[in-house]
Parts: sequence; C-alpha cells; structure tokens
Amino acid sequence: MDIDVSKFFNTCLLFVATIVVAKLISAFIVPKSRKRLPPIVKGLPFIGGLPRFLKGPIFMLREEYPKLGGVFTLKMFHKNITFLIGPEVSAHFFKAPESELSQQEVYQFNVPTFGPGVVFDVDYSVRQEQFRFFTEALRVNKLKSYVDQMVTEAQDYFSKWGESGEVDLKYELEHLIILTASRCLLGREVRDKLFDDVSALFHDLDNGMQPISVLFPYLPIPAHRRRDQARKKLAEIFARIIASRKSTGKSEDDMLQCFIDSKYKDGRPTTEAEVTGLLIAALFAGQHTSSITSTWTGAYLLSNSKYLSAVVDEQKNLMEKHRDRVDHDVLAEMDVLYRCIKEALRLHPPLIMLLRSSHTDFSVTTREGKEYDIPKGHIVATSPAFANRLPHIFKDPDTYDPDRFTVGREEDKVAGAFSYISFGGGRHGCLGEPFAYLQIKAIWSHLLRNFELELVSPFPEIDWNAMVVGVKGKVMVRYKRRELSVSH
Ligand code: HEM
Repeated sequence: MDIDVSKFFNTCLLFVATIVVAKLISAFIVPKSRKRLPPIVKGLPFIGGLPRFLKGPIFMLREEYPKLGGVFTLKMFHKNITFLIGPEVSAHFFKAPESELSQQEVYQFNVPTFGPGVVFDVDYSVRQEQFRFFTEALRVNKLKSYVDQMVTEAQDYFSKWGESGEVDLKYELEHLIILTASRCLLGREVRDKLFDDVSALFHDLDNGMQPISVLFPYLPIPAHRRRDQARKKLAEIFARIIASRKSTGKSEDDMLQCFIDSKYKDGRPTTEAEVTGLLIAALFAGQHTSSITSTWTGAYLLSNSKYLSAVVDEQKNLMEKHRDRVDHDVLAEMDVLYRCIKEALRLHPPLIMLLRSSHTDFSVTTREGKEYDIPKGHIVATSPAFANRLPHIFKDPDTYDPDRFTVGREEDKVAGAFSYISFGGGRHGCLGEPFAYLQIKAIWSHLLRNFELELVSPFPEIDWNAMVVGVKGKVMVRYKRRELSVSH
C-alpha cells in the first residue's frame, strides 16, 4: 500500500513536472510558432521566391494578393520580405518612427551615387537635418522663383520646334526636364556653361545604378567604375562653383544656393561635398520621376478627347483671366490639369516599390479583420504601383478617370491618408511633390496653348525593367502650331 502511494505520488509529480517543463518550453522556445505570422509565398528551397521576384514584383503581387490577402511574406535566401498592401495595413509602414522601421539599410545602394556624408550615409539625426534643408529649398517662396525659370525653359525649348512635325515626346520631355532641373536645382553656372559636361557625367551616374547595384553596389563592373569616376568629377566641378559663389558673395535663386546657405542646428555650415551630394540626391529623386509622369500625362490626354478638351478649355479660361501670364499662382489654378497628371501618376507611379527594415516586432490588422505579427528583422515593402489600383478604393481602377479626385468622390482620400501613394506619405512623404506638379503643369500648359497634338504611335507600354519604371519605347506625336482663340 505504501509503495502504491509513493508510486502514485511520483507519477503525479512527474505529470506536474512534465506540464511545467512543457509550459516553460512553450514560453521560451515555442512562442515564435504562436505568433500569427503572415502567409508565405510558395517558392523553391533556399532561394525561395527569388525567381518570381526577378520576373517582376508586380506580377508576383497580382498573383499572390487574391490568394493571400494584403499581408504576406516572400522568402529570398535568408531574407524575409513582408508586403503590406492597402491603406488598412500600410499605415504603420508610413508612420512608424525610424527606430522601428528604417530606410538606411534598404536604401544603402544609393550611397556610392549620392556620395559620402549625405542622406543614407549618415545617422538619422543628421539625415533629418538634411531633409530640413530640402524642405526649406522647396518652400513656396522658393518655388515661385523656380516657376519663372520652368516657364522660360519650356518657352525656349518649344520655340525650337518647327511649324509642324513629328517628335518622340518621351525624348523631348526628358531633355526639357534635364534643362529645367539644371536651371532650378544645379544653378546658372551649370545650365549656361557646363550643361553638356555635367549632363554627360549625370548620365554615367545614372547608368551606374543597375538592378544588380541594389544587391551589390560596389561590384567591380564597368558601369560602377564609370559611376565612381563621374561622381569624382562632379564633386570637383561643384567644389569650384561653390568656392566661386562664396568668394564673390554672389547669391542665386536656386537649390544650390539654398544648400550652400543651410546650417545644421549647432551652427555648422554645409561642406562643399555635402552640397554636391544633396544636389545629386535631388536630381535622382526628381528628374526621371517627373519626366516619366509628363510623358504618361501626354499619352493619356492625347488618347482621351474628353479630358483633352477639358484641359484646353481650362487654359482658355485662364488666358481670358490672366492673358499670357503663367506664374506660380496661375499654375495653382489649373485644377483639371492637376487631376489629369495625378491620375496618370496613379496608374503609373515611377517608384513601384518602397522599402523599410523592421527593428521591432509589430502587428497589423487586415480589412478582413485578420491579425498578423511581423517580426523584427523583416524587410517591409509596399507598392504604389499595386496599391494604387486596388478595386475597393478606386472604382474601375484600370480606367483613366481624373474625375475620381473631384469633390464628392475623392477616391484618393476615402480610405484614409494612404489610399493614394505615388508620392509615398507620412514620415517620408515626397518633399518635391509641389515642385513636380509645377514643373509638369508648366510644360503641359505651354504645349496645350501653343500646339495641336496627336498621338501617332500606339498607346505606350510600361518598361518594368527600369529602376524608375517608365514608358517603353518611343511615344511619337504629330504637332502643329496654333494659337488658342480667346476673347479678352
Ligand atoms: C512625379 C515626381 C515624383 C514622384 C512620383 C516622387 C515619389 C516619391 C516617393 C514615392 C517618395 C517616398 C520614398 C519612400 O517612402 O521610401 C519620395 C521621397 C522623396 N522625394 Fe520625391 N517624387 C517625385 C519628385 C520629387 C522631386 C522633384 C524632388 C526634389 C526636387 C523630390 C524629392 C524627394 C525627397 C527629398 C524625398 C525623401 C523624403 C524623406 O525620406 O523624408 N521628389 N518621392
């Protein structure tokens, strides 16, 4: 009997011990498996979803979103990329502080192009100050003087077109935007004297940013070598220009001057190398994005007679009111043109994928009410190109319909601040958005007022292979000079 009691006692003890150990294991070892991790995109062993990602991230998203919903993870080698698609789950992406979701690691590939000591090569505290320099250089009072330069550049450029003819609109707008960007951002010295040299160097810098550069930015390939040489020469050119402005005390109305005059909180002025790096960053952020958007805007307007007549009528009304005056305030009145540009940009955001690196665990809830925990260490991604066409936010999302932004519909706002994300949003939203709209409006108001235009090539396709995704091939347009008839 005694033996039985102690056997029973031992069994109970073992049972309790087993439960305690099991609880401990589940508390310390298993918790990962209890996390509500996002579903995983099917892929091959080890390389995971790499082949599908390389085929094109948007194609992968189109296949996976209907199956897996707005939150899922793609494994590539040892990396996990978690996609947050749709405003319901992407809010954290846009609003999280740098300590939780950071850009520095994922955008490191820009460092050899932008140069040392700026943007992604510096701590967040310094980067924040440098973004303050951007904000100040793009304030309304500065934009007003840039607009005059944008208008002059457009007038000069198109004055070289004949009475009538055929042009590749994509090529023309790319060139005009380089000239305008040179004038407003890089300054008079570059625009007037050094334009050919500097644009050749920027061309090498541009070609140095290949898809492979994202993974291996320092790989010893010819494109990277040319990039590094061009970067060095640009630094020398800008050092000379800055030194000359400083020694003569001459001040100009351009971004270069704003960066020269910028000071850190502790009173330290910017160095010549920092000014050069910030200007390169501005050009990379704003040049291709704006020229691509101008081209798509043209392609859509010339394929939609309803909107083409609406924007022409708007120009006529403004000419009746302001005659030939085109300045910041007149451009601000071009609402119809604004919506036409915004809609082209909704369908074709040039930055198709935005990335962050997660430093803390966080949770999101999908619109269907499913909760997921995203562990720290994941790369987190969202996609303007995909999210801008979600059918629960945008009615007939593949249709060009600029009226979707009018009062009463406002589809860009119905699902909150992150419904329309061509310019990103939240903490790192684009600082150049007003500049970009002014520049594109200045170009298109000039074209609409002075030319009859007709698209003669088929509607363009998307060039998914480019780093900044734009228009594939030529966009041939026939033009004829005209004067809009208006009654003053
Ligand atoms: C149509 C034209 C443009 C588009 C579509 C565009 C798009 C974007 C997007 C999507 C972001 C957010 C990136 C992210 O969250 O990771 C961004 C950031 C930025 N953009 Fe633009 N951009 C345009 C024009 C410009 C121009 C003209 C400039 C300057 C002259 C500019 C300067 C910047 C800067 C400085 C940032 C970084 C803001 C930050 O991280 O706090 N952009 N842009």
